[in-house]
Amino acid sequence: MARIELEGVEKRWGAVVGVRDIDLDIADQELVVFLGPSGCGKTTTMRMIAGLEEPTEGEIRMDGELMNGVDARDRDVAMVFQGYALYPNMTIFENIRFPLRMRGVPKAEQTRLVHQAAGMVELGEHLDRKPGVLSGGQRQRAALARAIVRNPSCFLMDEPLSNLDAKLRQAMRVQIKHLQRELKTTTVYVTHDQIEAMTLADRIVIMERGAIQQIGTPDEIYANPSNAFVAGFIGSPPMNLIEGRVSDGMFTAPGIAVAANGIEGDRDLTLGVRPEDCHIGPSDTHLDGAVFAIEPTGDLTYLTIKAGEDLVEVKADRGYRADLDAPEHVAFNLDRLYFFDPESGIRVR
Ligand SMILES: Nc1ncnc2c1ncn2[C@@H]1O[C@H](COP(=O)(O)OP(=O)(O)O)[C@@H](O)[C@H]1O
Ligand SMILES: [Mg+2]
Repeated sequence: MARIELEGVEKRWGAVVGVRDIDLDIADQELVVFLGPSGCGKTTTMRMIAGLEEPTEGEIRMDGELMNGVDARDRDVAMVFQGYALYPNMTIFENIRFPLRMRGVPKAEQTRLVHQAAGMVELGEHLDRKPGVLSGGQRQRAALARAIVRNPSCFLMDEPLSNLDAKLRQAMRVQIKHLQRELKTTTVYVTHDQIEAMTLADRIVIMERGAIQQIGTPDEIYANPSNAFVAGFIGSPPMNLIEGRVSDGMFTAPGIAVAANGIEGDRDLTLGVRPEDCHIGPSDTHLDGAVFAIEPTGDLTYLTIKAGEDLVEVKADRGYRADLDAPEHVAFNLDRLYFFDPESGIRVR
């Protein structure tokens, strides 16, 4: 168990800035997800927590104890990576047992702990096999068991499911979430996949270009994005961001006119509206455009409407069908409109 604190943490390599101004307080037993596009500094931050990189500035503490300068081996963390890093010549049993042997745990205890960890990831029947004959999902579960068997004070997982196909990823996600709740081990989980972040996290730390953009629960981040980057990164399809202008309390863009209550003056702004807050309707509409594409998914239909040069995503009923280029009208949910400064991206309302 561990609380993990990062204060003013920065990592530079010469002129290259990996991450900067990282302030983060991860509670004991919490599952925190670092989310952001490739290169935003997720792995760098995690490696500093693990002790594999030393911060250029700032402090890292675990349970109040300063970790700067403490060797990775002396930090009580277990890492799980995208590449499973299993030893190909060892059986799964030997792979999972490896960290226990390194620590000189008594033999009978080693065997008991390996069976317990393997049972938790439902790998008990494959212990005598080599990694090469197992599926990707089974190998990832072996890597998880090897982390679990150490009973560390925290798990650090860096894109552990990226090598798996979509269906398996979903199943493993559920396993990891269940295991983490059961073990109550503080966990930092890195991903670029916003669905993974939303579904797994107690709190999401959303990063871009080496800096934290927002920290919050999945619900907070979804309902209350602090800037256009966060708004456009979360959600599937993500929030529509439409550039236009507000004057006399009305937002307008080609094909779009909607009240912008509470916004004074005359200025360029970006309107944000989620696809589920767009409703097809003949009356009281805010957007007039033409059907650009229709994508049935089974439970609902993704409709893309072209208004001016903007492509606006709408979640329509499963039965919705229309001809290409047919005129279509959309009403926005007025309680769920967001406005952002087009230059800084900062949320205005
Ligand atoms: N050892 C290194 N030397 C120089 N630059 C690095 C090194 N490791 C990472 N970087 C840079 O730091 C930034 C963040 O990288 P990383 O943390 O791996 O991103 P992410 O995991 O979010 O994809 C990137 O621009 C990357 O090129
Ligand atoms: Mg990475």
